[in-house]
Amino acid sequence: MALEVLKGKTAFVTGAASGIGQGIAQACGNAGMNVILVDLRAKALAEAAVWFEQKGYPHHTIELDVTDRAGYAKAADNAEAKFGKVHLLVNNAGVEVPMVPLWKSTYDDIDFITGVNIHGVLNGIVTFVPRMLNYGEAAHVVNTSSQSGLSVVPGATLYNLTKAAIAAMTETLKGDLKGTNVDASVFAPGPVQGNLSVTSYEVRPESLGNKAEIPVFAPPPEVNPAEISPTAGFTPQPELDFSKATISALEAGERVLNGVQRGDLYIFTHPEFAPGIKNKYEAMLRAYPAETKIDPVRTQIFEGFFSFLTQNPVYAEQKPVPGFYK
Ligand SMILES: NC(=O)c1ccc[n+]([C@@H]2O[C@H](COP(=O)([O-])OP(=O)(O)OC[C@H]3O[C@@H](n4cnc5c(N)ncnc54)[C@H](O)[C@@H]3O)[C@@H](O)[C@H]2O)c1
Repeated sequence: MALEVLKGKTAFVTGAASGIGQGIAQACGNAGMNVILVDLRAKALAEAAVWFEQKGYPHHTIELDVTDRAGYAKAADNAEAKFGKVHLLVNNAGVEVPMVPLWKSTYDDIDFITGVNIHGVLNGIVTFVPRMLNYGEAAHVVNTSSQSGLSVVPGATLYNLTKAAIAAMTETLKGDLKGTNVDASVFAPGPVQGNLSVTSYEVRPESLGNKAEIPVFAPPPEVNPAEISPTAGFTPQPELDFSKATISALEAGERVLNGVQRGDLYIFTHPEFAPGIKNKYEAMLRAYPAETKIDPVRTQIFEGFFSFLTQNPVYAEQKPVPGFYK
């Protein structure tokens, strides 16, 4: 059941104090929804709420670390006490860590990024989906992945793997929710105006050291650039202004709501990434052994009861998306 009518419904958006989460929250406000802005950074959360106050939009702020399971349950109670049922959960809060080759990563960095980017999303799903199923009304879960979770950015192993996990968990979740009142989408944006390379270091535990001075695409000083994948520490080209490739967070938010209403499996922002995705899946197809003779017994097994191993109907349901450019 798709969440087609948004007006009067309630959205719970994590990472809403900045960037994409703030844009999604604002798009929800513009769509007439009650908006619950959720973030770990209390001051930024209060600042993000000002826009809603000025617009006179119904909203509420909740300070939450999405990795805190008990805190998440309390936040859900708090949200329900304020607006009743929560119809849209957007698991968007995320962090990055300095780009180093995986074998140079610290266990602390591994725990930090998987904690927020994977466990934070799992916590949101485990907290809210049972409640949504109980409501019996159309509801939807959006999980923010990234294009880099679908076609990996060289050198960003930890970030890529957390975002790939979001895609896999959401694809499975959507299939498992089929026939219920709850639906799910993967949001996999390309570049959007956001502050991940700043906020990730604000929320980074002191024990991991503050590496705020390290931009995401540059290796930290202790790493020999020669050890980084050649395209990871790329040389900026001054004549190309990368910011022109970004879309605004509000536009990203509007695309998310459009995808929710359509019941899309994947919500994308940049068609320029499509050829890279095609290359990836074509590479996989080339890698399957070109057998001249297919074993008939195996075929029977995989086309019979065990087809759930080889075919997932969730993919066939994705409909073509009309162009966004006007
Ligand atoms: N901006 C992009 O180009 C882009 C592209 C692809 C994917 N993404 C993903 O989109 C999401 C938002 O990115 P953004 O660029 O808007 O970043 P941002 O830094 O502007 O916002 C992230 C927000 O998440 C919050 N947060 C971090 N850890 C938290 C925690 N443990 N609990 C609660 N809140 C927490 C931060 O305080 C911050 O307000 C992230 O998941 C990111 O990986 C961003």
